[in-house]
Amino acid sequence: MEVVIVPDARAGGELIAGALAALLRRKPDALLGVATGSTPLPIYEALAAQVRAGAVDASRARICQLDEYVGLPAGHPESYRSVVLREVVRPLGLGEDSFMGPEGSAEDVQAACEAYDRALREAGGVDLQLLGIGTDGHIGFNEPCSSLASRTRIKTLTRQTRADNARFFDSLDEVPHHVITQGIGTILEARHLVLLATGEGKADAVARAVEGPVAALVPASALQLHPHATVVVDEAAAAGL
Ligand code: GLP
Repeated sequence: MEVVIVPDARAGGELIAGALAALLRRKPDALLGVATGSTPLPIYEALAAQVRAGAVDASRARICQLDEYVGLPAGHPESYRSVVLREVVRPLGLGEDSFMGPEGSAEDVQAACEAYDRALREAGGVDLQLLGIGTDGHIGFNEPCSSLASRTRIKTLTRQTRADNARFFDSLDEVPHHVITQGIGTILEARHLVLLATGEGKADAVARAVEGPVAALVPASALQLHPHATVVVDEAAAAGL
């Protein structure tokens, strides 16, 4: 695992946007796995700026989602589908046809999970998967104690994750209890994993993921098993290393 310490979130965003741009130059139709949350926003802003400046052509890029809330209608502003369309797909000048994600409002959620896991493989696999990290060490929505071999499936959020994500909703009560997430085994199939963590609130989770033992209790520690994993942290998030 490669660990890169950058001065701040903006520098992390620019560094990773550069890696995405390099990938798109090499493979214009690369499948990019994107994460939600506040952390990756500087990446998306920096990449969109490069596209607008004509420094990279993202017109053939394909985008796929890491996870999704269950039960929110697809058009809900905080469904991850809406978030990814708003923060990534449209700013890159792409249409919805270049985007794939799990169907969180499906009647048969289990079937939707299996279909998404299959669709990722049929699309040729994820070339570069961006990840954030939860304060409890989760990746995607794989909460502590998720199997390191898990596939895309339904999960129940912990109280802490619902509280962490309540800022995106009007109240804690509105945060869904259930989600679909790519499993840890699914995530590990991406060709390159890039995790960005910024701010002192992530320092403990980063230290456990990078320097602790590989353990289901710290889902992000699974990156240690991947042959090409890059962890980019700002100085605050690196405080425990
Ligand atoms: C959610 C997402 C994760 C993300 C995490 C951290 O739980 N499912 O993919 O990494 O939030 O979000 P933030 O970057 O806002 O701290």
